[in-house]
Amino acid sequence: MFLYVIFIVIFILLALLYLVFKIISPKCVELQGSHVLITGGSSGIGKALAIEAVKQGANVTIIARNEKKLEDAKKEIESHIKDRAIQRVFTTSVDITKDADIVKEAVNKAEKELGPITILINNAGSAVAGRFEETSSQQFQRMIELNFLGSVNVTKAAIKGMKENNGGRIVFISSQAGQVGVFGYTAYSASKFALRGFAESLQMEVKPYNIYVTMAFPPDTDTPGLAEENKSKPRETILISDTVGLFSPSDVAKSVFTDAMNGKFLSYVGMDGWLLCTLSSGMSPATSVVDLLQQIFTMGICRFVCQFYLFHFDRIIGKCKREKDSKMKSS
Ligand SMILES: *[C@@H]1O[C@H](CO)[C@@H](O)[C@H](O)[C@H]1NC(C)=O
Ligand SMILES: *[C@@H]1O[C@H](CO)[C@@H](O)[C@H](O)[C@H]1NC(C)=O
Ligand SMILES: *[C@@H]1O[C@H](CO)[C@@H](O)[C@H](O)[C@H]1NC(C)=O
Repeated sequence: MFLYVIFIVIFILLALLYLVFKIISPKCVELQGSHVLITGGSSGIGKALAIEAVKQGANVTIIARNEKKLEDAKKEIESHIKDRAIQRVFTTSVDITKDADIVKEAVNKAEKELGPITILINNAGSAVAGRFEETSSQQFQRMIELNFLGSVNVTKAAIKGMKENNGGRIVFISSQAGQVGVFGYTAYSASKFALRGFAESLQMEVKPYNIYVTMAFPPDTDTPGLAEENKSKPRETILISDTVGLFSPSDVAKSVFTDAMNGKFLSYVGMDGWLLCTLSSGMSPATSVVDLLQQIFTMGICRFVCQFYLFHFDRIIGKCKREKDSKMKSS
């Protein structure tokens, strides 16, 4: 009898939760007919996002520094346009780490060309990898300026229009190193963790305006940025990154859009991505009842599984140190 009552209570609670989420869940929006602005859109994940957006019928603005690369990217993106009669790609060359006024001007220009921005993707960013003592304070500053403050300034420029429009999506492209600190990423991880705090606070502020924030945590993705970063990576960082493997920019782009359109706060690709998002869901906004229940019931086991990853990482780092020590002795 007692058990029977407990079951009924649990059932009623779940039904209530389901109803509440039915009301509060963000409504899915369409890419068709939207204006997507992407920073750092001339290569890598940014370019893949732009291609995916035009394939699905959106107008796209890309902002990047290098004019030649922008022009090449524009041609490539335009070749994927679904309907040439109504879709356009607009590019503007701006360094988002410069003055906020310059950024504002670029955003205004894009809105004049292609209408109000409905989806903003803060993708511009770079990574440096190196041991803490070998990472200069300029590199720390650069990471915070580009990966964090750059996104803050662009978001500030776009948010007024979104509020007036009563709706929109803001995406931050973070990294799995924005969920877990990894050897060699003292500067990079710090800048990506900063974004997380910013995004959670911002989401709480803009929800009444029907604006939804998505944090995407892609794993290592096969991009020119990664190739550049590869050059300076410590051996430990390479071995640890190898645990997760490499994903293609177009797979990452597809999942980012699916999640952003549905207004999901956390976006990932792959099994490890799922594990890390479940584990680090914390007090982030729950955007679907299925995700919430899944997090409630699997967080503990995820913590257990991840402990084995940590053992593995520590072993790699210990081994590298021993190798280095013995090399020093023999030389
Ligand atoms: C793209 O922008 C142009 C304005 O330049 C507008 O006429 C057109 O309808 C937009 N297309 C889409 C798909 O929103
Ligand atoms: C952001 O905008 C402020 C105000 O103009 C400016 O001082 C700062 O340099 C900008 N920072 C970045 C990283 O864009
Ligand atoms: C970077 O290095 C990893 C090895 O850790 C390798 O698998 C990957 O192909 C390299 N990526 C690029 C783009 O050079």
